[in-house]
Amino acid sequence: MIRLPGAESSGEFDIVVIGGGPGGYAASLYAGSAGLSVAVVEKDKVGGTCLHRGCIPAKEFLETAAVYRTVAGAKEFGVQASQPTVEFAVSQDRKQKVVDQLHKGLSGLMKGRKNQIFEGTGRLLGNHVVEVRAADGSAKQIAGRHIVLAAGSVPRTIPGFEVDGKYVMTSDEVLSLTELPRSAAVIGGGAIGCEFASMMADLGVQVTLLEALPKLLPGCDKDVTDAVVRAFKKRGIAVRTGVSVEGHEPGDSGTTVKLGGGEELVVDTVIVSVGRRPLSDDLVAPEAGVNLDERGFVVVDEWMRTSAEGVYAIGDLVATPQLAHVGFAEAMLVVKQILGEKALPVNYGAVPWGIYCHPEVAFCGMTEDDAKAAGLQVVVKKDPYGGNSRARILGETDGVVKVICEKEPDGRAGRLLGVHMVGPWVTEQLGQAYLSVNWEATPEEIAPFVQAHPTLSEAFGETVIALTGRGLHVG
Ligand code: NAI
Repeated sequence: MIRLPGAESSGEFDIVVIGGGPGGYAASLYAGSAGLSVAVVEKDKVGGTCLHRGCIPAKEFLETAAVYRTVAGAKEFGVQASQPTVEFAVSQDRKQKVVDQLHKGLSGLMKGRKNQIFEGTGRLLGNHVVEVRAADGSAKQIAGRHIVLAAGSVPRTIPGFEVDGKYVMTSDEVLSLTELPRSAAVIGGGAIGCEFASMMADLGVQVTLLEALPKLLPGCDKDVTDAVVRAFKKRGIAVRTGVSVEGHEPGDSGTTVKLGGGEELVVDTVIVSVGRRPLSDDLVAPEAGVNLDERGFVVVDEWMRTSAEGVYAIGDLVATPQLAHVGFAEAMLVVKQILGEKALPVNYGAVPWGIYCHPEVAFCGMTEDDAKAAGLQVVVKKDPYGGNSRARILGETDGVVKVICEKEPDGRAGRLLGVHMVGPWVTEQLGQAYLSVNWEATPEEIAPFVQAHPTLSEAFGETVIALTGRGLHVG
């Protein structure tokens, strides 16, 4: 095994990683591929929130909803099926199987890369020493030439809504349900709130979505949010924006949610999805010299370096987009620096986003409003999925592809600033748009690339052709 100079003789690991979620396991795998010795301290299971309590289980339930919708709509295709019913406990079992298989695969990969896993809670002391405290209270110390803090995040809560797993839940509890409530108030209309609202409504839950801001889905382009709201309302979700929630009172049949202005709403369950906070409580001892900000995020520069020499922080623990793939990118950036290789900071303004509600949302780069607020002149083109042949075949015509370009002095569309999609399978279609935005390509450069027909992804190609000034199917 290749070791960093001096590490072997001192008995230190090349890297000690605290936290085995997407940020931490990516750092460990990537460093392991380079032959570095890595210790991973994990108090639960490797895979973290994404695998066990987040992205993966949530998408599994959203797939149950998609299967349900497909069966319920089968008649339109001439396929006769009786009205479906859902046994959520079966979906829960399947989810667990998927999670367990992925967990097994990840554990095997880490073993193959010779990552050494230490079970327990890690705390960084001074001089790159990490204390590992096991569940039985016993503790040991390990040391690393470099330290990567990747302890992740937990759901935020709000006053008046104490999580009890019955009347009030966060994503952690919802993802363990074996039975769905009849009605739910989802507080917070961000990515998690919209995914849960969508899944539950499809499976027959009466959902009210309560968002404090005037608009759902912060960070999304207005056209995208409007399409999601239209689709949600069509499926019976009550979308309420600009509302405040003050607390709740359990009663004989569910709980009464108190809204601002004296309004009340009776539901079986309240789901709180108002963001996630970094899990930095007691993660670093004062002598470690690692600064946190007032919200608890570990302060890092663009290279993920903390205020302590040789100590990095990545993933949800730092104030960058809370996305597993951002954690992966930050992990690789850190390992490359440790290896003394050329690396580039992550371009956070143009990372890919995917939200798996129905209709799906995917985007990267600036929204139209962002671009205008930055003082840029823009050329915008939209292609609704209603005109796309594959979308017609699927019967999934709600949605649009919107491409935003910087306007050249002669009025032509210049580099792509952002691509915002809402509609069928857009999370799988974002790839070419993501590359185009990050390459700062212009419509003239992209338009000659041939798109397969009939595909959903040709909607992006068609929009870009139209942006050259002369469209094919898109005007
Ligand atoms: P979020 O920050 O995306 O959205 C939280 C929403 O709650 C905001 O719209 C906010 O205005 C609203 N809110 C806050 N306090 C409120 C209150 N008291 N009453 C009503 N509304 C209130 O957070 P979310 O959805 O919990 O997700 C956490 C993180 O996980 C986010 O960074 C998100 O991007 C990420 N994530 C990404 C997913 C994806 O890419 N598919 C899926 C799930 C989560």
